[in-house]
Amino acid sequence: MRTRSILRAAFCAVIVSASAAIAQDTDTEKGIEKYRQMLKEDPWSNPGLLDADRGETLWRTAGGPRKASLETCDLGKGPGKVDGAFAEMPRYFADADRVMDVETRILWCMEKIQGLNAADLVKKPYPGGGRPVGDLGAIATYVASKSSGMKYSAKFALAKEKDAVALGETLFFRRSGPFDFSCSTCHAASGLRIRLQGLPFLADSKEAKEVVGEWPAYRVSNAHVMTMQHRVYDCYWQMRMPEARLGSEATVALISYLTKVASGGEIAAPGLKR
Ligand code: HEC
Repeated sequence: MRTRSILRAAFCAVIVSASAAIAQDTDTEKGIEKYRQMLKEDPWSNPGLLDADRGETLWRTAGGPRKASLETCDLGKGPGKVDGAFAEMPRYFADADRVMDVETRILWCMEKIQGLNAADLVKKPYPGGGRPVGDLGAIATYVASKSSGMKYSAKFALAKEKDAVALGETLFFRRSGPFDFSCSTCHAASGLRIRLQGLPFLADSKEAKEVVGEWPAYRVSNAHVMTMQHRVYDCYWQMRMPEARLGSEATVALISYLTKVASGGEIAAPGLKR
């Protein structure tokens, strides 16, 4: 009897503290939402804009063994044309004979035009917390910002583009790795969250449209800009999968799939994330 009532008391205490924690989480979440709102009301307060500026300078500055700038890089709308190029990516590039997202394309241009070694560039491409996004990421932020306000309009009409979307969809739903997780374990239902982090329903066009166009985004908790390749890398890491290489077929396919689901959604890059 005594043991049972102790157990009951303990059980109630757990319930009470759990609901207190939930209430507190809701308050914290509201606080974060208010903070985000304040930052959004003053668009110039997004530190990611500094990286977009740095990216623009890098794009225009001669560099690499060939001392060439990226101004002749063709992002799909002709050499040097940046405005609106991101809105139509990922896309197929005949010169590389493959589908590329913005980062993969910039990497390709850095290798072909500037003579940099792509293998070196993808060895440690993402910054640790508090460190600024690397050059490639800054350039991607600049290029994406030049499509801000436009709608995602990648066509995915060519066979290789369709293949990329199909592969991305398969990978999104395929369970794998030591936890037996898939992307869909965390991103295929509304209203899920891990601690304070909302998990958007990325296989749903309404929710995907709200968030996908915000990448690259300044992530407040890491104090740096995070690109979409980095985001996918990090989620694969959460699944304890082998490290996903920047520009790999798998990451490009996943980004193609996400972009396809978000098709028609507005681009608001660089976005701002918690
Ligand atoms: C274990 C759960 C988990 C799995 C599995 C997972 N993610 Fe995530 N994902 C997260 C978390 C946590 C965040 C960050 C949310 C935040 O910062 O508020 C996130 C964020 C994202 C975002 C940004 C969403 C936004 O709000 O803009 C994208 C895109 C994304 N994940 C894609 C993927 C892809 C693609 C996969 C599969 C390769 C995947 N995720 C697998 C937990 C997961």
